[in-house]
Amino acid sequence: MDGNGRWARRRGLPVAAGHRAGTKALRRTVEAAIDLGVESLAVYAFSTENWLRPPEEIDALMELFPETIDRELRDLASQGVRTRFIGRRDRASAELQRKMIELEEETAEKTRFQLWIAFDYGGRGEIVEAARRAAAAGVELDEPTFRSFLYAPEMPDPDLVIRTSGELRISNFLLWQSAYAELAFVDTLWPDFGEEQLRSALDDYASRRRRFGGR
Ligand code: IPE
Ligand code: MG
Repeated sequence: MDGNGRWARRRGLPVAAGHRAGTKALRRTVEAAIDLGVESLAVYAFSTENWLRPPEEIDALMELFPETIDRELRDLASQGVRTRFIGRRDRASAELQRKMIELEEETAEKTRFQLWIAFDYGGRGEIVEAARRAAAAGVELDEPTFRSFLYAPEMPDPDLVIRTSGELRISNFLLWQSAYAELAFVDTLWPDFGEEQLRSALDDYASRRRRFGGR
């Protein structure tokens, strides 16, 4: 979900306003995804590297996350959305940790749509942590066994990864899971993303032939 800062700057608004607009785009995009027949969506909300941002921006974001759970994600729950978080939990405030657990528990029986939110998430960190836990368990590793140590082994591998705001990078997102994902790069800044942009990315995806390394 990239481009919040540029969206705000172009409007002469504080960066926090861009992040707030980003939460509206998240809700809009989940609703559009449901309408378009998507079953599962993972979004990158905050990376392990995002802690390097200025303290004022971190503070604004850490206030916004629990608010977003209350304002947007609870409402999506009433539309059948099950939400789960992937990433580290230990650096979030006690309030945010509690709200994350509550939302996961409250939506555990929802089946219409699966939403995965990567928070304090880094693909390398996930792989190292999985390796550490696999070593501690003393199991013999193959790919399915390794996967079972990831944050959410039950999360489907992405068929399509959409990067917004014109950046052409993966930025540590779902490194293991994206091995054969199709990639779409769109210029739209995240706060402007919605049904039209999602539909266009899905149309593009539908025209591709996936061979997974085969012929
Ligand atoms: C992404 O938007 C949101 C988060 C990382 C939380 P950015 O804040 O990275 O937006 P730009 O890249 O500055 O435009
Ligand atoms: Mg950015």
